[in-house]
Amino acid sequence: MSELTPDQLAALYDFPADADRRPWVRTMFVATLDGAAADASGRSGSLGGDADTAVFHVARSLADVVLVGAGTARAEGYGPASFDADAAERRARHHRDPGLPIAVVSRRLDVPEALLVPGTLVVTTADAPQRERDRLAERVDVLAHGEGQVHWRRVLADLAERGLRRVQCEGGPSLHGELVGADLVDELCLTVAPVLTGGDAPRIAHGGEAADRPMTLAHCVPAGDVLLTRWLRAR
Ligand SMILES: NC(=O)c1ccc[n+]([C@@H]2O[C@H](COP(=O)([O-])OP(=O)(O)OC[C@H]3O[C@@H](n4cnc5c(N)ncnc54)[C@H](OP(=O)(O)O)[C@@H]3O)[C@@H](O)[C@H]2O)c1
Repeated sequence: MSELTPDQLAALYDFPADADRRPWVRTMFVATLDGAAADASGRSGSLGGDADTAVFHVARSLADVVLVGAGTARAEGYGPASFDADAAERRARHHRDPGLPIAVVSRRLDVPEALLVPGTLVVTTADAPQRERDRLAERVDVLAHGEGQVHWRRVLADLAERGLRRVQCEGGPSLHGELVGADLVDELCLTVAPVLTGGDAPRIAHGGEAADRPMTLAHCVPAGDVLLTRWLRAR
């Protein structure tokens, strides 16, 4: 198949019914054929081409919240999410709120200026620098859970209390590694990009506690030379 319509992608990437009742964490990544999570310039945004971009936007239009590490937010120039008319209509049809908050994870509280707008959430630890926390709290909501490291189950419970159960985690690899270690990844959407890159780029998950998390294949769809795959945690 060379090109999928947004409606076909929405059918492939809708969140499962489970997400009506409990937090559901979907992670979204693109990797090269040799397993790199970034191209030679250190970025990943354009690795998967148009097909991956289309998946990214359709999947966003079905989510309640985007979760992203500050490293990725800084590297990829994150700002507030916005939708075109089609995506806005899809959100309404799926009973999603018009706005999609970005929850950015940072231990140092180094959040890109573009994200410091109402609706943004900052996820950090309870022992993060107090002065910086207070400064951020004047502009965005700060979710501080855990001492030393983020207590992810509490973060997900806090998001769920705000009605944000469909969590689209857009990386990066460090955040992903920690979520894999905590066994909180319900689903991985992985685009395989038709390129070899070599070098020393990270994998899509690194760090965190090493663990084997079996996954089952939900779909594997070719889009030109790109492979769109979706994997569910085998529980
Ligand atoms: N291939 C892909 O699909 C894909 C997707 C996303 C990103 N990337 C690439 O990955 C690279 C960035 O990698 P990365 O591993 O540095 O990204 P990352 O996980 O987004 O960022 C790491 C930073 O995020 C914060 N953070 C992450 N997990 C945290 C936690 N559990 N607790 C507290 N803070 C946490 C920390 O920020 P502070 O330093 O502010 O404390 C940490 O330094 C970029 O090149 C990006 O383009 C690739």
